[in-house]
Amino acid sequence: MKKIAVFASGTGSNFQAIAKACEKGVINGQITLLVCDKPDAKVIGKAKDMNIEVFTVLAKEYEDRAAYEKVILAQLRGQGIELLVLAGYMRLVGNTLLEAYPNKIINIHPSLLPAYPGLNSIKRAFEEGESETGVTVHYVDSGMDTGPIIAQRVVEIDDEDTLDALEERMHQVEHELYVEVLRKLCED
Ligand code: GRF
Repeated sequence: MKKIAVFASGTGSNFQAIAKACEKGVINGQITLLVCDKPDAKVIGKAKDMNIEVFTVLAKEYEDRAAYEKVILAQLRGQGIELLVLAGYMRLVGNTLLEAYPNKIINIHPSLLPAYPGLNSIKRAFEEGESETGVTVHYVDSGMDTGPIIAQRVVEIDDEDTLDALEERMHQVEHELYVEVLRKLCED
């Protein structure tokens, strides 16, 4: 069973979907650690409810990104973590983690990359009047939402759509696609 660390900074709906799929045995893996850089993030409560260990680490307490990531890396190595899953982790990943986990760090992004990288991707696609957007799961490199794509799923935008309705559908697709990708990655 693959030992997974999820990195998240926010609500944690993807974290929860993945954790439940692990619990049910849909994914042959186990989230043994949540790494969170925001002490008041909702995801922390979700992890505690599921008895998943939380490692809260504040970047501003470290001199630079390398020092911050070294502390995280020691924790990951101490627990034998094999796969890093970013789910709403609002930071770029630096060389310390990238070199320690080559091709073992993945991220989910709410657009059909390379379109709409960065923040507010759902809103920007909606306001642009796109007829479709979607979800991408990709390997992480040093750029922002730039690594090799693993899987994408299209989400159509109807004329009568509202941003709220679209966001809800997008999150649903995120949860399904992330579980699907992790199911396959954890088979190997
Ligand atoms: C998701 O939309 C994900 O694609 C993006 O950040 C959001 C995290 O949502 N990277 P949640 O915290 O998993 O609910």
